[in-house]
Amino acid sequence: MGIMMIDGRKVEFTSEKNVLSVIRKAGIDIPTLCYHSEVSTFGACRLCTVEDDRGRTFASCSEEPRDGMVIYTNTGRIKRHRKLILELLLAAHCRDCTTCVKSGECNLQRLAHRLGVTQIRFENTRPPREIDNSSPAIIRDPNKCILCGDCIRACEELQGIGALGFAFRGTDAMVMPAFDKKLSETQCVNCGQCRVFCPTGAISIHTNMDEVWEALADPDLRVVAQVAPAVRVAVGDAFGLKKGTSVMGKIVNVLHRMGFDEVYDTTFSADLTVMEESAEFLNRLHAGIKLPLLTSCCPSWVKFVTDQYPEFKDNLSTCRSPQGMMSAVVKEWYRDPKHAGGKRTVMVSIMPCTAKKMEAKRPNSFTKGEQDTDIVITTTELIRMINNSGIDFAELDPEASDVPFGFGSGGGVIFGVTGGVTEAVLRRLIPEHNKVALDAIAECGVRGDDAIKEFTFPYEGTELKICVVSGLANAREVMERVKRGEAQYHLIEVMACRRGCIMGGGQPPFAGIRTKAARAKGIYSADNMSIIKKPDENPMIMALYDGLLKGKTHELLHNSSY
Ligand code: FES
Repeated sequence: MGIMMIDGRKVEFTSEKNVLSVIRKAGIDIPTLCYHSEVSTFGACRLCTVEDDRGRTFASCSEEPRDGMVIYTNTGRIKRHRKLILELLLAAHCRDCTTCVKSGECNLQRLAHRLGVTQIRFENTRPPREIDNSSPAIIRDPNKCILCGDCIRACEELQGIGALGFAFRGTDAMVMPAFDKKLSETQCVNCGQCRVFCPTGAISIHTNMDEVWEALADPDLRVVAQVAPAVRVAVGDAFGLKKGTSVMGKIVNVLHRMGFDEVYDTTFSADLTVMEESAEFLNRLHAGIKLPLLTSCCPSWVKFVTDQYPEFKDNLSTCRSPQGMMSAVVKEWYRDPKHAGGKRTVMVSIMPCTAKKMEAKRPNSFTKGEQDTDIVITTTELIRMINNSGIDFAELDPEASDVPFGFGSGGGVIFGVTGGVTEAVLRRLIPEHNKVALDAIAECGVRGDDAIKEFTFPYEGTELKICVVSGLANAREVMERVKRGEAQYHLIEVMACRRGCIMGGGQPPFAGIRTKAARAKGIYSADNMSIIKKPDENPMIMALYDGLLKGKTHELLHNSSY
């Protein structure tokens, strides 16, 4: 432990890794652009600069705390310094802030406003650069890049992909894929974590909101929404509600008001995924083949395996994701002219994930050669659409989802967090339905924030070896161990984004530690409140197997190949 003086007050520190963290602990929000506690420190933007008692200025994110330090965070000199940095960054930045897709959630814009930068005295001398629209999910606009390197470190250190890097030097410096390739030509998995870390509009998501508005305005269409589990805990705080609270009922209400004909809950099709994946797992376990079973709900992970570990393609579960299963089932229901009533059905899925935009277009998950999910929008786009509609979201009464596909179990809800798919599958495997048995599963090692969780679970005389991973860099570590024969598992669950879908690339960015914890808590609270915890207790699921799914489970619920 040590003590330092910050702006004349004593502040104790223990394990804080840098002066910036001690300053923040003291309740002072130092501006930063390139610092993120989850990736390595780069020290490029210099906005976090502070001054010591000898007049030395330094970047607080790059300095270790030392006992006896005397720090000033807001002297006139520091304020002028920060303002100048911002002015210089803005000078080399395109000036279309009012129409930029990141407007309102751009850290550069927010800091310029906060630090009072009201004019830019310098001309932008950088030549205009081409925008890369090639990816199904991500747009890269080099004209808005401030060279902070945040996207590079997120892609390399969290996801182990390395699709982006620095090129050239000095005023020519740029962030781009190697050899100036298009993003679609790299091994980018469309997870969107680069967009979450990017403080400006240099990396953004392809938006599909206009397509949704157009569909809603067409009287010949039946527009059906499905809402993924993690969306419900990330919308409320944008409208002043408590962070992490599940607002699914309000989302259903607002979607009905916008004009959606039906609103379904993706927890329903998550229940279908559990039914199918559990059956597939038991088949493989009994036959002793294609183990470990690799989960297939996360499209970034599926792309990671097919691109980088093709020898494990057969280990991927053949199950479609909950998004894919819901869309296939709804479309099949309306293939029956009795149900269709002369209208064409458009499926809109509302997801925490940017890669779902890619997954929807993957031909191996089409039914009868047709794309099942027509439009994918992210949580961020949903929030924008609500704002656009002018509806007072915070004041809305909750509404129930529609039938027959609107009701999922608690096991479906927990798909939103890392470990949730595995926990739901384990619930399905055991015959018991009581609280003691479900609590034992929750405590077996499947929950918690660790990026790699390894545990065993007893099942019919076998100790199942299970690994739950979040973050693709961690997945690579596990897969390398499996490849070398150093680790053997029966089941591996991977979610590409750290902590699972609650921190997906399509969720509102700038989620601090408290937001992350609140979202996870919100998911588990929603599970606690569910009367039905397992898919096999869900009467609507069982009715579907007895009806529409008869003889069609493989066609509607599984991918044709990888
Ligand atoms: Fe410290 Fe950028 S936040 S240098």
